[in-house]
Amino acid sequence: MARIVGAVATSHIPAIGKAIAQGLQDQPYWRPFFEGYLPVHDWLREEQPDIAVVIYNDHGLNFSLDKIPTFAVGAAAEYRNSDEGWGLPVSLPFPGYPEMSWHIIESLVRDEFDITMCQELLVDHAVVVPLTLLWQGPAARPVRIVPVAINTVQFPLPSPARCFKLGTAIRRAVESFDENLRVVVVGSGGLSHQLEGKRAGFINRKFDLSCMDRIAGDPAELCRMSVTDLVRMAGVQGVELLNWLAMRGCLTDRVIEKHRNYHVPISNTAAAVMVFENEPVAVV
Ligand code: DHB
Ligand code: FE
Repeated sequence: MARIVGAVATSHIPAIGKAIAQGLQDQPYWRPFFEGYLPVHDWLREEQPDIAVVIYNDHGLNFSLDKIPTFAVGAAAEYRNSDEGWGLPVSLPFPGYPEMSWHIIESLVRDEFDITMCQELLVDHAVVVPLTLLWQGPAARPVRIVPVAINTVQFPLPSPARCFKLGTAIRRAVESFDENLRVVVVGSGGLSHQLEGKRAGFINRKFDLSCMDRIAGDPAELCRMSVTDLVRMAGVQGVELLNWLAMRGCLTDRVIEKHRNYHVPISNTAAAVMVFENEPVAVV
């Protein structure tokens, strides 16, 4: 059976992709941010996942605001990127795994998540930047991916509790896939940021730090928040935390936090990365 070996949550700010393309990792502005990924690389090297389930939000590259699914799952053989206007190089495609995608789709629908299934899906910076941060080099494609898109841009948004439950359903789906595969779950986005309106530039360090504690130790408390609470505390784009909650739902009740780094700001955003493993269950 497929097994979830752990999860990584990471910001997906486009400026990161530009810094990678220009080789700026050692510059003073960027070093404290990129150094936060060195332990993640070590962890991935040890865990050697075969598959990444990437939970992210599309920002308008594939879905436009006139037609946007609340939840969508990719079922393509490969996922292409395209120019979003951020000045990033268009990345090489990412390999998919349609058999596993269809298994997850079937299982989610059986579990009453009426998702949109996408046999073609362009992936934006919210997929490309995290994968490029985790596996370095423009041609590095060591994992096949199953992208899961959550609407965090066109209101009304799904609640934190619903996104967490989607994660638990993804876990059931993955763990019932009859192939011996190691799966890492990637939660993309966050932490606090707001790119527009009166609160443009809003960052809430206190909330972010408590959020990192709670995503590890008490996600139920985050699940009691409403989307409006989230917007208030984390900013309009900080609701990308919904992707982190779905990622957390893919793990067991108790997790081991292997690593975290928090660095403010990168561009307009409080940048964060965390790594989790499921706590081993004691065999009696
Ligand atoms: C920024 C952050 C995002 O999450 C995003 O999708 C685009 C831009 C930023 O801080 O620049
Ligand atoms: Fe974003």
